[in-house]
Amino acid sequence: MKIARTINEVRAGVAGARASGKTVGFVPTMGAFHAGHLSLMRRAGEACGFVVVSLFVNPTQFNEQSDLAAYPRHEALDAKMAAAEGVDVLFAPEVREIYPEGDATTVEVRGLTDVLEGASRGAGHFRGVTTVVCKLFNIVQPDVAFFGQKDAQQALVVQRMARDLHVPARIEVCPTVREADGLAMSSRNVRLGADDRVRALALRAGLAAAEACVEAGERDPAAVERAGAAAMRARGVDPEYLAVVSAESLGPIRPLAGRVLVAVAARVGPVRLIDNVILDVSNS
Ligand code: PAJ
Repeated sequence: MKIARTINEVRAGVAGARASGKTVGFVPTMGAFHAGHLSLMRRAGEACGFVVVSLFVNPTQFNEQSDLAAYPRHEALDAKMAAAEGVDVLFAPEVREIYPEGDATTVEVRGLTDVLEGASRGAGHFRGVTTVVCKLFNIVQPDVAFFGQKDAQQALVVQRMARDLHVPARIEVCPTVREADGLAMSSRNVRLGADDRVRALALRAGLAAAEACVEAGERDPAAVERAGAAAMRARGVDPEYLAVVSAESLGPIRPLAGRVLVAVAARVGPVRLIDNVILDVSNS
């Protein structure tokens, strides 16, 4: 596996792969790899002949400086894990390589970014994500890019950006990988103390309660949201939001029908966690 620091090095690697007829898969990340990241790399390896992973803690998508400062960084270990997954190039640039002196261009997806994470974290968060992902797509020029369902809204926003800007890549969304007890894997989980690690299960419990409520026949999203939030509070966690919305538009649907996203965010101790589940709601 090659570790590339510059755009030129990545482009040279990708050009070589293309010259030998390989398709190029791309997994953008911010590092501190866990099984969720590794599942995307594995899937990329199954689908494509050449795999590029980026490791870049993107400063423009952090709405809290303390979160950026505390973001875990262990590149040497990450490089070993990526190599073990058969990744061909790990692109780990400095900030200046991605945001050159005088950088003045951003990419913004309107509408989809107004709700959920966009409402909680501010418009700058997704602007940071779409700007860096657009830059990375232009650098790597992949055939397929892989994103996790764990960040459901991010995956939708990136798909919309790729469609609107005619990015010649297919976006594949891969399932959320969880710990044995159901906690969605996240690079931020390492910052949970022992008590908070137990309380963090409230997110999964909230989603499960919402799902059970729908399965029992409830079709009013507000009632489902209340049931989910109550299950979380019973575990000592106040949700920032627990929202039941259209899985395609993130808009309201009442009564519930079709593909429904139940998305949750909550602060647990020092960490802000998110999780979600998609339900197929029948009309009967
Ligand atoms: P990061 O949080 O490092 O996540 C990189 C990719 O891994 C994202 O597509 C995310 O959805 C996926 N992922 C995270 N946890 C997962 C889990 N438990 N199961 C499956 N996939 C999981 O998301 C970002 O970085 C950044 O916003 C980025 C897209 C790299 C832009 O900076």
